[in-house]
Amino acid sequence: MEQSRGLRLILFPLPFQGHINPMLELGNLLHSKGFSITIVHTKFNSLNPSSHPHFTFHSIPVDLSESEASMKEAGRLLSLINAKCVEPFRECLATLLSDAEEDPVACLISDPLLHFTRSVAESFELPRILLRTGGAASFAVYAAFPLLKEKGYLPIQDSRLEEPVTELSPFKVKDLPRLDTCDPESFYQLITNMANEPKASSGLIFNTFEDLEQHALATLRQDSYPNIPIFPIGPFHKCDSAASSSSTGLLTEDQSCISWLNTQAPKSVVYVSFGSIAAVKEAQFLEIAWGLANSNQPFLWVVRPGFVHGSEPFPRGFVESLNGRGHIVQWAPQKQVLAHPAVGAFWTHNGWNSTLESVCEGVPMICMPCFTDQLVNARYASDVWKVGLQLEDGMERCMIEKTIRKLMVEKEGEEIRDRALKLMEKANLCFNRGGSSCQSLDGLVKHILSLEP
Ligand code: UDX
Repeated sequence: MEQSRGLRLILFPLPFQGHINPMLELGNLLHSKGFSITIVHTKFNSLNPSSHPHFTFHSIPVDLSESEASMKEAGRLLSLINAKCVEPFRECLATLLSDAEEDPVACLISDPLLHFTRSVAESFELPRILLRTGGAASFAVYAAFPLLKEKGYLPIQDSRLEEPVTELSPFKVKDLPRLDTCDPESFYQLITNMANEPKASSGLIFNTFEDLEQHALATLRQDSYPNIPIFPIGPFHKCDSAASSSSTGLLTEDQSCISWLNTQAPKSVVYVSFGSIAAVKEAQFLEIAWGLANSNQPFLWVVRPGFVHGSEPFPRGFVESLNGRGHIVQWAPQKQVLAHPAVGAFWTHNGWNSTLESVCEGVPMICMPCFTDQLVNARYASDVWKVGLQLEDGMERCMIEKTIRKLMVEKEGEEIRDRALKLMEKANLCFNRGGSSCQSLDGLVKHILSLEP
């Protein structure tokens, strides 16, 4: 793609782990196609340029205090980021666009949750493409929020949780995205605003692949965004050879995970991680701890700082009682962990990145979604792809123990384990020559080259 040489793309990720990782991976993919890449990032959760020496980084002076950055009011936090970034980003863009020493800018790629980027890009007549870091199925549910409201499914009523959403198979009311730290009306506004963003953009990129979310992608193309080109070009990290070696983590990865996994039997370990945001109450934490201990399977557990409301209340004598059968860290090199032959299951919150990373390594999942798109992803994992089991009947230690054993050891879990391996094969194919993501990436490059900045 020689035409892309000498052209620059400006990428602006939402400053949270689950959004940063895919944006940087996308940057690597587009860099491999010849574009120069500039990353704009905030001082809040700022990025480390040394992890990507082939990119140019521009930090804008936007920071948040500890109380402002609290996820306890996620809606307010997003509004604050959008409000605080407008002017610094405008100034940054003016500088970048007028820099005669740099390659000319072909377009901006930003996150649809950074909705202020629309007016700023428009004021410079700069085309804007969106990267949605979540899956296509959850985005299709978001795009259907007005319909779900009209039909009375939203706001969600506790008495209707088990009812099927007949307009959106296979979901039940309890699978619809919600966020307990945001009141239902504000959440509705946040989501509908985000789902409207693609209509004012030059294209929409997903970190997914056709075979994984064919139906949802067709719905988005036909019903939600018939005039917007959609590019499913994932799984990014599988086609980006730099992804596994360059860390984009805001926390330091504990490499002891790998040496510990090296001592474990093949497919024996349950890897447990609930991403970068989800948190549990102390009582739930205890059930997780004892459920893992009682399962008799070895486990690798990420207990991130802040994962437990209050202190980290490891039960007295818990760690000693494990006799080395459990390894607990604050942050793991997750992609390496999931690719390790000792890992036999992933107990996950079903953030989209974790879900996709698990699919790519053929690791069956125990699904424990906490909020937003995670509920949709979990239903897909358990009921559409059938590569996981949901912890639907509560989080008591006996249920946890039973589910781990069913998925990893018992005959009942065999079909799920087999399907996970078959799905992995499909994920591996999409980036072969002529594969769907490979073609879609080429389509995206052509599309960018056709934009008139
Ligand atoms: C958030 C939302 O929670 C999620 O619903 C949405 O889909 C994306 O944004 P997060 O909760 O962080 O993301 O989960 P996830 O999407 O799974 O992303 C976490 C990333 O951190 C993954 O790429 C994972 O590999 C990485 N990670 C996680 C580590 O590298 N080490 C860890 O110990 C845990």
